[in-house]
Formats: sequence, structure tokens, C-alpha cells
Amino acid sequence: MIDEQQPRPFKRVLIVGAGPSGLLLALLLSKHTSPSSPSSRIPVTILEASHEVDSQPRAAHYGTPCIPEFIRAGIIDKIRERGLVLDTMTWRKPGTFEELGGFDASGLRDVALEGLEGVPRGVWGLGNGTGTGIETEKETEGGGTEGTEGAKKKNGKGQDMRTHCLVLQDLLKLMLEECLERGVEVLWRHKVLGVGHTGLGTRSKEDGKGGKGGEQKEDGKEEGKGEEKGAWVEVEVTGDDGEVKESKKVGGEGYIVVGADGANSAVRKGLFGDEFPGFTWDRTIIATNTYYDFDKFGWSDANFIIDPENFFMAARIAAATSTHPALYRITYGEVPNLTRAQYLSRQPFKFQSMLPGHPTPDKYQLITLSPYRMHQRCAPSFRVGRILLVADAAHLCNPWGGLGITGGFVDVGGLYDCLAGVWDGKADEEEILGLYSEKRIEKWKEIINPLSQENFRRVSGQADLEGDEFLEVLREVDPKTKGNGGGALKSVLLGMMGVRYDFTRHYKR
Ligand SMILES: Cc1cc2nc3c(=O)[nH]c(=O)nc-3n(C[C@H](O)[C@H](O)[C@H](O)COP(=O)(O)OP(=O)(O)OC[C@H]3O[C@@H](n4cnc5c(N)ncnc54)[C@H](O)[C@@H]3O)c2cc1C
Ligand SMILES: *[C@@H]1O[C@H](CO)[C@@H](O)[C@H](O)[C@H]1NC(C)=O
Ligand SMILES: *[C@@H]1O[C@H](CO)[C@@H](O)[C@H](O)[C@H]1NC(C)=O
Repeated sequence: MIDEQQPRPFKRVLIVGAGPSGLLLALLLSKHTSPSSPSSRIPVTILEASHEVDSQPRAAHYGTPCIPEFIRAGIIDKIRERGLVLDTMTWRKPGTFEELGGFDASGLRDVALEGLEGVPRGVWGLGNGTGTGIETEKETEGGGTEGTEGAKKKNGKGQDMRTHCLVLQDLLKLMLEECLERGVEVLWRHKVLGVGHTGLGTRSKEDGKGGKGGEQKEDGKEEGKGEEKGAWVEVEVTGDDGEVKESKKVGGEGYIVVGADGANSAVRKGLFGDEFPGFTWDRTIIATNTYYDFDKFGWSDANFIIDPENFFMAARIAAATSTHPALYRITYGEVPNLTRAQYLSRQPFKFQSMLPGHPTPDKYQLITLSPYRMHQRCAPSFRVGRILLVADAAHLCNPWGGLGITGGFVDVGGLYDCLAGVWDGKADEEEILGLYSEKRIEKWKEIINPLSQENFRRVSGQADLEGDEFLEVLREVDPKTKGNGGGALKSVLLGMMGVRYDFTRHYKR
């Protein structure tokens, strides 16, 4: 419901793409309430090219830095119910699978968010009414836990910050359900072809007041004035048969457009053409979902096998049932430039040579197999006027270490804080959206890009293991030998929170 009493600096956010980043942003925006008008929500429309959410096996593991966003979107309890949480990760030699290093993240089960890097008060204060306006009914109910744990949550303490796991297609389904429940408009079969601005640089009114928003109709012009600033998208609407039914513009004055449309983003191309600086790795990786009994070999929740040819990751994505062993994401390296059929025919040989127990196909059950190319790329800017980019539309990295959508979700949380600050009149639009682009690019360049490259070089045997700083640090903080009873490990793991940036520190108090 839009509160017509209070003029707002923008009237609606158009999100392009119902992928994980687009849906999370929609959840955060649609949950936002201002202290001054609790009934007002930020209106959101999602435009999605497809007729349903994506079902390819991609992300499954979401790291520590993005957990605060699941908490404030109100979906953390459901993610845990439907998925699982990882404790142990181990790096191993090929063949013998001798351990080279690893850790147990159970020290992150109960972490106070207050004071952690980049976490706005609106998250750590969740539950005791001191937040920045996100409704907290789900959290205050404590997810069914009463007593001490419930009380801890009420004080914004005791959050489970371990890596959470839920295969992307299940996470998308969960987020879509929540979006529809909260009245987010989702327009399927709306393919965006281009973007544009209205009134760019022609509006001289001061920001924050939002001009005469209260006098505007949803898509009417403000009478007697020049064009209001805004952004629009050009869409092609297709029918059931895939035939184009209609081409039109959506948005315009008063609108904000967010490109959450993935690696081939039409929004990014509309701003920068083919300019997406970086490189593509000359390796292909194959992501599979496979039932196989790794427990028999005493393996960890996530395992990384370091080898130039047969490197792979095996990470648990669903617990064992009475009929199946646990389901694992097994992702492995392959030569580039073959067809999917060729990769499929090589897969039994690959598994037999690389997996523990050297299984023949009757010993496991392959559910899905998809080849991917990997990239390290970053757009020149994540913002032009009222058009913004998040997640894969803005930047790409290889998935070793799970920094892809983890970083994308962190962008989304940051952009939410920026847009909510503008909406509430607490932040200057020019300043804070400029900072959004600047700070998120900085975090990608200084942390996500180098770290993800290092992760891939390590697992693919291109790095010198003797001098490997990461494995060395893990040995130094190992609570079993030294490392201050787990305290040192905990601070290393929480060090990843450095990819976050708290934009609320730029709110005018
Ligand atoms: C094998 C593999 C494993 C991975 N594992 C992990 C992991 O464990 N952890 C992790 O953090 N990351 C992982 N990633 C990365 C992660 O999957 C991506 O970062 C993530 O899916 C990006 O989300 P997104 O919302 O930006 O874009 P997408 O997921 O690509 O979604 C974009 C959406 O926009 C729609 N769209 C596209 N173009 C248009 C258009 N023109 N108009 C309208 N709609 C459009 C698409 O249909 C889609 O629904 C992995 C990637 C791969 C390939
Ligand atoms: C809310 O929690 C914060 C952080 O623990 C605390 O400082 C503050 O006093 C609490 N406020 C109320 C009203 O309980
Ligand atoms: C794979 O194809 C790309 C693009 O055509 C090419 O640049 C690369 O050299 C090829 N790699 C191999 C190993 O053939």
C-alpha cells in the first residue's frame, strides 16, 4: 500500500530479473517500513524474461557475509528448514585424499552481529525495535525457539553465521513465494531489451523532498513542470508460444531501474554495450548433483581436491534419507570447448578416476550435469543516474569459494540500505547511489576478485602449496593444536565480513 500523504523521492523500483539477487532485493524493499508512516511500503515490480524461475544447478552455498541479508529479509528460518548448514571444510591431495588443511566452522553458530564489519544496526538490532525500519515479526517470534535462544535473538545476538546451503532452484522458489505473499508484482515473459532515462540533469529541485510526489498519479506527468527524473526499460512481452505479443516502455518519471538480470545483463549492455572488463578462464567446469556416500570415507561437509587435471569439489547439499545417501554437489574441471554430450560421455571415466572408492556408475546416481565457463569481470560502474546494477549483472567471479552470489547478495543488502535511505529522506540520492557503485566496486576489486582467483588457482594446482598463505593461516588458527581455543579461527572466518560495507553510516542523522 502506498502512503499518498507523504511525498517520496521516487515512486517505484523496477527490478529486471527474478534471479536470486532480484528476488532478494524485492523482499527487502517490500518489507521496508518507515518509522514515520508504518503502512507505507516501497513499491516494487519485477520484470522476468522467462515464464518461471531458473532451474539450472548453479549456486548452492551462501557464505557468512550474506547471512545478515537473509535475516533481515525474514527468510533465514525457512532456508535452514529446507536446506542445511555447513560445519567442516577440508582441502585434500588427490588419490590418497590426505588432508592439507581445513576447519570446523561450528564456532560461528552463535555470533553477536553488533559491531561486526559492515552490518548496519538495522540487522544486529533486529527484534528489539531499534532497527532501521524492517519489520521483524518473524525474528521476534524467534523461529520457534523460546527461552535463552529466543531472548538472545531479541537482543540481536546469537545468529548462526555458518555457510548456509539450499540449491538455487529451491531458494528461488522460497523467495518467490515470499515475494508473492508480500504483494510484489512479478511480470513474467517480460524481456528487457534496453534502458533509458527521463529528465536526467534537468531537475533542479533539492533531493530528499521528492518534489510534488503526492500530486502525481502512478504514471501521469507532473503538470506544468519539466520532466521529472526517472528511468525506463524497453520490454518485449511474449506469449505462451514464445511469440512476441507486444513491445513497450515500462517506467519513466519517478522510477528507479535495477539490473539484476545476470551475466548477460541487457541493462548493463544498455549502459555500456559489450564493455565488461576482465577475462574468461580457459577451463570448463562441470557442475553435477550426485547421490554418493562420501560419509563412508569420512569426508567433510565440503571438500576441495587439489590437482591440475582432476581437481574437484564435493559439498553436501542435502542430508541422507532412508532411500538415498546424502546428495552432493560435485564440481570438477574439464578441458574447454567440448559439447555437453561429449562431457556427459566422459563423466563416468572422470568419476571413476577422481572420486574416493573409484566408483563405477552403478555406485552413484547422477541427477544433473551442466558445463560452465568461468569469468572474472566487473562493469565500469554499477550506477548511471537512476539505473543500477547488482550481482552477476555487475560483476562475475569463478565459483570456487562460493563468492559469486554471496557477493551479489551483499550488493543487494547495500543497495537496499541506499534506496531505503533515499525513500525515508535520510540519504541524499546523488551521494549515496554514487557511493553504492564506488564502494561495491572497491570490495570486488580488493577482495572478491583476488580471493576467488586465488581459490581457483589453489584447487586447480596452479599455486605453490608450500607457500600457500591460506593453508598456513588455517594451520596457525587450528583449535586442536594452537589458536586460542577456536577464537583465532572464528576471527579468521569472520574476516570475510570485510566484503560488506555499511551504507547507513552515510545517513543524515
Ligand atoms: C556451477 C556454479 C556454481 C555456483 N555456486 C555458487 C555458490 O555455491 N555460491 C555462490 O555464492 N555463487 C555460486 N555461483 C554463482 C551464482 O550462481 C550466480 O552468482 C548467481 O546465480 C547470480 O545471480 P543473479 O541474480 O545475479 O543472476 P541470475 O541467477 O543469472 O538471474 C538473472 C535472472 O534474470 C533473467 N533475465 C536475464 N536477462 C533478462 C532480460 N533481458 N529481461 C528480463 N529478465 C532477464 C533471467 O531469466 C534470470 O531469471 C555458482 C555458479 C555456477 C555456474
Ligand atoms: C537493543 O539491542 C541493542 C544491542 O544489543 C541494545 O544496545 C539496546 O539497548 C536494545 N534496546 C532495547 C530497547 O532493548
Ligand atoms: C577454446 O575456445 C576459445 C574460444 O574460441 C579459444 O580462445 C581457446 O583457445 C580454446 N581453448 C582450447 C584449449 O582449445
